[in-house]
Amino acid sequence: MPPDPTIAGPRRRLRTAPAKLRRGLRCVWGGNDGAVPTAWRPARLLSHVLHRAGAGGRLTVVAWDGDAVIYLDQRLLPHETRHERARTVDDIVDAIKSLAVRGAPCIGVFAAYGVALLRRTIADDAVFADGARRVRDARPTAVNLAWAVDRVLAAGDPLEEARAIHDEQIAVDAAIAENGLALIPKGARVLTHCNTGSLATAGGGTALGVIIGAQRGGKKPRVFVDETRPLLQGARLNYLELRDAGVDAVLIVDSAAALTMKEQSVDLVIVGADRIARNGDTANKIGTYALAILAAHHGVPFYVAAPRSTFDLSAPSGAAIPIEERAAGEVASFANIRVAPDDAAAYNPAFDITPGHLITAFVTEFGVIRPPYAESIPDLELRPKLF
Ligand code: MRU
Repeated sequence: MPPDPTIAGPRRRLRTAPAKLRRGLRCVWGGNDGAVPTAWRPARLLSHVLHRAGAGGRLTVVAWDGDAVIYLDQRLLPHETRHERARTVDDIVDAIKSLAVRGAPCIGVFAAYGVALLRRTIADDAVFADGARRVRDARPTAVNLAWAVDRVLAAGDPLEEARAIHDEQIAVDAAIAENGLALIPKGARVLTHCNTGSLATAGGGTALGVIIGAQRGGKKPRVFVDETRPLLQGARLNYLELRDAGVDAVLIVDSAAALTMKEQSVDLVIVGADRIARNGDTANKIGTYALAILAAHHGVPFYVAAPRSTFDLSAPSGAAIPIEERAAGEVASFANIRVAPDDAAAYNPAFDITPGHLITAFVTEFGVIRPPYAESIPDLELRPKLF
């Protein structure tokens, strides 16, 4: 019997975690028994859990459990809802590298708990430092990862700090959703990319948090969801989260974005970010740059929703942002089935850089940040912490 993944987590959520949520998660654990075809049953169960989670609708994506960090294996979604326990450096690094845990803020939260756990389990300082460095370097583009690890390493109480990072993310996401609300007209037709919801932040989400906030505010947006090749975070994860929030969501292949903007009266594009430079250049999931060019061509506003922790004020421009290149096999396959010839060469950058001049505004916990970014973004350094 796997452990109950709700037994530990951010303090605020734990205090309020309703018994019905715990029952819902047990239901998921018990649900993956193979008795019903996984093609539909786990998705229904996940929907059930998200629904039952109540305020915020949050599924346990990452949680502290004393001798392990529990995480939802996002590679299996939407067909299977399985939680795993990371205990060692290898477990933590593998979960991040394999994208079992993914999304810039979410890997930051996960790594924070991971390093707090390693500090408890590894007595030798040099061995611990090496483990923490491996976690910090597990993926290069999302700055939240290094930012969170550095915070935990500098803290007197690593676990307290990890919990604070998680609690802050939940509060920051709520503020982003609130601040973005005015950007979404009633009945807006929105296009989005990758997954930027609860699964990607371990809170309420960034770009998806804004969209779901608009839905809760009665604006009834219609959302075109890029499938997001090669790993289909849009089709597998974003669509699931939108549907569970009752949003009118329509899946499109990435290459349909231009026609969708032209023929479907798209009002705005909103995406998340992995790292934002001082001048507004933004690293996000591969395909974001193309969307921004298309949006400019069609006169559609292009918004990026991200927390302060995703801004890297030490990077003067996008040229300073490292871009992760992943295995060729991800491009040569579709849903883990090889589709290209065995010897096909492939180029697989996981992210691209959208120049700041193509971005209409950033939605942050501090409010909406507009050009000129060379002034408005460095100003973030002066803002007092909100949460
Ligand atoms: O490779 P992934 O799935 O970790 O990429 C995630 C993204 O690019 C997201 O858009 C980004 O991290 C923002 S998540 C709020």
